[in-house]
Amino acid sequence: MHVDDAILSRRSVRRFLPTPVPRETLERLLQVASQAPSGSNIQPWQVHVVSGAPLAALSQALLGAFDHEPEQHQAEYVYYPREWFEPYIGRRRRCGYGLYETLGIHREERDKRLAQARRNYAFFDAPVAMILTLDRRLDTGSYMDCGMFLQSLMLAARGQGLHSCAQAAIAPYHRVIRQQLSLNDNELVLCALALGHAVPDAPENGFVPKREGLESFTRFYGC
Ligand SMILES: Cc1cc2nc3c(=O)[nH]c(=O)nc-3n(C[C@H](O)[C@H](O)[C@H](O)COP(=O)(O)O)c2cc1C
Repeated sequence: MHVDDAILSRRSVRRFLPTPVPRETLERLLQVASQAPSGSNIQPWQVHVVSGAPLAALSQALLGAFDHEPEQHQAEYVYYPREWFEPYIGRRRRCGYGLYETLGIHREERDKRLAQARRNYAFFDAPVAMILTLDRRLDTGSYMDCGMFLQSLMLAARGQGLHSCAQAAIAPYHRVIRQQLSLNDNELVLCALALGHAVPDAPENGFVPKREGLESFTRFYGC
């Protein structure tokens, strides 16, 4: 697969088939992703690969926390700004409402929106979830490095015919994850990656949020 095709065919898949992903494939993906660059080659990423019974238990624990005590959980790092502003707030709304529209969910149907958000904690039925963690004693640059690792992982998945969805939604529930996976105290939970084969005709998998044109984010100097 040409690298452009891997990039252009990657999209966030939010409904997976139960088809298992063999251990050898998972190891191959991780080996490829581990070639991601990082400042001074410190390779700050840690990955917890979860499937089968441990995944069912993790999912059940997360769903329980989401259903019964969501206000008691908070991420250990700040992903989004406290105060939103344009153009980002507009893009965020278009993304959220776009997904709900694809699913036939209207803006006022709060319960259905919540039910869709809840699917994060079932990892969208994926047979594999990867939990990405970072040593909390590291600093901002390592977040960039982990982002590169994550993208490499998602592209390597395309190379194996697999799809994925990055999930920051699990970050607030780090205590649940810590307990389920016996993480050590220095591990900060960044996000998850749901991984597997896409349900081809699921409406949510056909949702393609648009990107801004070059002119909105690029300035050329002397070229
Ligand atoms: C670090 C990261 C965290 C994300 N967290 C979530 C999430 O918790 N739930 C979700 O449904 N999508 C999540 N997404 C997917 C984004 O919504 C998606 O990448 C964006 O809308 C662009 O769509 P695309 O990935 O299909 O191109 C996340 C993406 C990234 C990169």
